Amino acid sequence: MGQFSEEIRKRRTFAIISHPDAGKTTLTEKLLLFGGAIHVAGAVKSNKIKKTATSDWMEIEKQRGISVATSVMGFNYDGYKVNILDTPGHQDFAEDTFRTLTAVDSVIIVVDIAKGVEAQTRKLMEVCRMRKTPVIVFVNKLDRDGKDPFDLLDEIEEELKINVRPLSWPIDMGQRFKGVYNIFEKKLDLYTPSKQFVTESVQFNDINNPELEGHIGNELAQQLRADIELIEGVYPEFDVNTYLNGDIAPVFFGSALNNFGVKELLDCFVRIAPSPRAIQAIEREVDSEEDAFSGFVFKIHANMDPNHRSCIAFVKICSGRFERNANYKHVRFGKNMRFSSPTAFMAQKKETVDEAFAGDIIGLPDTGNFKIGDSLTGGENLHFKGLPSFSPEMFKYIENADPMKTKQLQKGVDQLMDEGVAQVFVNQFNGRKIIGTVGQLQFEVIQYRLLHEYGAQCKWEPISLYKACWIESENLEMLASFKKRKSQYMALDKDGRDVYLADSGYVLMMAQQDFPDIKFHFTSEF
Ligand code: G4P
Repeated sequence: MGQFSEEIRKRRTFAIISHPDAGKTTLTEKLLLFGGAIHVAGAVKSNKIKKTATSDWMEIEKQRGISVATSVMGFNYDGYKVNILDTPGHQDFAEDTFRTLTAVDSVIIVVDIAKGVEAQTRKLMEVCRMRKTPVIVFVNKLDRDGKDPFDLLDEIEEELKINVRPLSWPIDMGQRFKGVYNIFEKKLDLYTPSKQFVTESVQFNDINNPELEGHIGNELAQQLRADIELIEGVYPEFDVNTYLNGDIAPVFFGSALNNFGVKELLDCFVRIAPSPRAIQAIEREVDSEEDAFSGFVFKIHANMDPNHRSCIAFVKICSGRFERNANYKHVRFGKNMRFSSPTAFMAQKKETVDEAFAGDIIGLPDTGNFKIGDSLTGGENLHFKGLPSFSPEMFKYIENADPMKTKQLQKGVDQLMDEGVAQVFVNQFNGRKIIGTVGQLQFEVIQYRLLHEYGAQCKWEPISLYKACWIESENLEMLASFKKRKSQYMALDKDGRDVYLADSGYVLMMAQQDFPDIKFHFTSEF
């Protein structure tokens, strides 16, 4: 037990992920209502750019403003300190979401009962799988008709490549939705349309108790018993360790809009979800309950006010306690820094705090000292792994459109890349800079921000690339020969590592065949 173990074990830091429109914002809001963090519905602004507004700059600025305010929402519930990290809804900002996932200890995935598993969720789940992040699934919109729950569970297992275990079970759906049987707590939660919450919750330790008929009628009672029998037969007994290891995802059913099943989800979540886990640094494993403070920057919000180069660096505390005005080591600079106005995020307010503990997120006002991945410690040299860059999907050459502003452009590009807006690769053949993103919108955001925040103008030129892969090999001879053969397609990433720019899937496949000793990686961390 460390000095701060008691505080740290209360922390539940997680993100909600979903395909847009599955109900992430609604669920977040209902969780905040239960946590007493907000008092009226509708208080959480939807943190998403509507599809129609993709080229509306005001909308982008607004989005950036809102997402600072709602980036982290903390509240106390039942003796626990819950921190929800928001993730951008728009898929062009998926890279931001990937990074947020590096700062959470668990995840809740929202799936729409009618739509099932959608593309974006699949991709985000890959990141969770890679990091073995424990996942709970919330199947939403049971007040509407949707897929057969058993079929949906099969789909989740297949599409998300994770085993599931229902911990609640719906009793019919849509207009005829009666509620759920809570397998975890062995009780029946009844739903009455238009009442918008659990209307009655009855303990039912034995589902064969004939009183069940009195609550949901003969037919549904029989159906429920059959379903539960099938569940107990098909799915293994729920073992919390399989969840904590990221092997099995418990599943809950409900309707976020109707506030149904949300409290039950939260009650189970705080009990089973992990408190901050040990984190692997390059030097050693850092246990969250160690007394010494350590943390890393996982997100930077820069230049909220273009007139004052103000940034907020978001730090996930990995171990110990952070104190205001204490000296901490900025490991990359090797120098000590003090922070006089760190902020924490409670409810929807950002306020200065005197201390924070492992699991918490703090915002540090900054004037350009931080990059994503930087670590802060009580003095030890620690570098945290697990902040990979993913191979971008869209590429463009970036060119200077105003020769008088070369320096500004350089600085702007460097800072935006440090902030993680996109990735830059320098082609070693022609020296040109290539910007790689996961969505078209990011190119527009970069151009807009370069102009408004740095006074620099850029223009984009097309380049036809399929993927950027980080390469490595122990066979140095083969590596050298590969680099020579592909010299036109070799680039360096911002850390000076070798990146191969494949112009088609076929060429990449041939390269993998011809150079068997070379490893091609699609994330920067391997
Ligand atoms: P997102 O953040 O994942 O993108 O989803 P969001 O919560 O914004 O929800 C998307 C839409 O689905 C919203 O409707 C929301 O009201 C609705 N919704 C969420 N949960 C449920 C549910 O349990 N049942 C039903 N029937 N609908 C649900 P909208 O019309 O797009 O927006 P709004 O005008 O209602 O805000």
